[in-house]
Amino acid sequence: MKIFLDTAVLDEIREVASWGILDGVTTNPSLAAKAGRPFERNIREIAEIVGERGTVSAETVSTDAAGMLQEARLVTSWAGNIVAKIPFGAEGLKAVRLCVQEGIRCNVTLIFSAMQGLLAMKAGAYYISPFVGRIDDGGQNGMECVEQLCKLKKLYGFETAVLSASLRTTNHLIDSALAGADIATMPYSVLTKAIGHPLSREGLASFLKDWATIPEEMRPF
Ligand code: G3P
Repeated sequence: MKIFLDTAVLDEIREVASWGILDGVTTNPSLAAKAGRPFERNIREIAEIVGERGTVSAETVSTDAAGMLQEARLVTSWAGNIVAKIPFGAEGLKAVRLCVQEGIRCNVTLIFSAMQGLLAMKAGAYYISPFVGRIDDGGQNGMECVEQLCKLKKLYGFETAVLSASLRTTNHLIDSALAGADIATMPYSVLTKAIGHPLSREGLASFLKDWATIPEEMRPF
């Protein structure tokens, strides 16, 4: 499973890229607003940091297919690794078809059911983004949606990648991997929580304490 960061904050992206585990970035209009920088410049810089590691999703905001297509053309012209993020809906499906005809890759976002995801795959989505956390918030099982989409993808041989999104916990990450999601995108805070474990910290502290008891002349460092 590839690891994407769901953020538009450059420092977070640079930091995770330096860990060697960053496979891409997703953004959305809310994250872009939070970053507080000119949108085009910010996306271009994110695309540069991500480079050959993977893709950067930049979202369209028009509500009709023609507008979405126009914005998709624009954002994907900024760098070769940018994917147009298109909100799911009838206009979104139409836009995806048009984008596919032009070779523009689309991440269909705001997927809340397996049926929506199936239609997006049929339209030719490059990625589909089921919103696990937000489905959970509504009292349903977000992970079930990811599982169903992975099953449908396999059953019908779609090339679309299932991108598990709106992830909030370490369990969301591991369950996405077990379900067979191609990608998981998460905020920086979720990734750092998934990395930390109290026993890892305690174990290291005790190793270092014991190491310090070895006389200096008996250790190479
Ligand atoms: O970027 C899409 C998605 O990951 C949003 O997540 O936490 O706002 O539900 P969230």
